[in-house]
Amino acid sequence: MRAMNLESIAAIVREARDIVVFSGAGLSADSGIPTFRDGATGLWNNVNPDEVASIEGFLRNPPRVWNWLLQLKALIDDRRPNAGHLAIARLEQICAGQRLTVITQNIDGYHARAGNAEVLEVHGTIHRLRCHRYCGFVANWDQGSSNPFACPACGSPVRPDLVLFGEMLDDEVFSAAETRSMNADIFFCVGTSFTVQPAARLPVWAKYAGAALVEINPHPTSLTEVADYSVRSGASEFFSALCARLEGK
Ligand code: APR
Repeated sequence: MRAMNLESIAAIVREARDIVVFSGAGLSADSGIPTFRDGATGLWNNVNPDEVASIEGFLRNPPRVWNWLLQLKALIDDRRPNAGHLAIARLEQICAGQRLTVITQNIDGYHARAGNAEVLEVHGTIHRLRCHRYCGFVANWDQGSSNPFACPACGSPVRPDLVLFGEMLDDEVFSAAETRSMNADIFFCVGTSFTVQPAARLPVWAKYAGAALVEINPHPTSLTEVADYSVRSGASEFFSALCARLEGK
């Protein structure tokens, strides 16, 4: 990445009051978690999301969805946040006194594990279970729960507390994400193909509300034309370089 761009971006961060980091599966690629649409390794290039990650698929065949998500959870539990997650957590410390919000499409929980305090998980989390009817039952998803079961409170199906295809996002979480996006002075988009709505519209709203839009992705995306800076880089490399620049190294 050109040093000139890094310095310009660092200068905007120094002056920013509200900073947002918006992340997708590409951020966790360096942890060994496959992305969804990248070439041969993309999860959706090897399995049909309608069967293993949609609400219709879950209601049709709960064990199939449950078992596919259990495999993904086992991989996530086996890996850990990478240098990109750690650098984003470091960025929050460097920018103490400014407001840094992470808005993630990822369900792996790696931002919180890396140390970020304000994380909005707009697609939920694979680490928690809830009653399908939102009756109030929630539980951690430890490896013990290896089969779907009925809600102990109301008898409805229990399922992972993440957004399956065909479902609405959590209103409260997404409106908080919208507000932070509209208030952002700088909005980093890292590791996402901007394929899935409504999350994919957050960077556009941020841009039109006045944020400097920075895209970090080894490949161009549909946002590249709109971004103020489009950095052809991996997440770990960029955020580590940005932290070093802000720390005067
Ligand atoms: N650093 C930064 N970006 C990367 C890296 C990396 N090391 N490796 C890959 N990428 C980029 C790819 O170029 C691609 O643009 O990450 C992006 C991953 O895109 P997707 O696989 O489509 O993942 P994402 O955008 O997060 O998908 C959005 O779709 O399947 C649903 O709910 C799921 O949250 C997910 C949503």
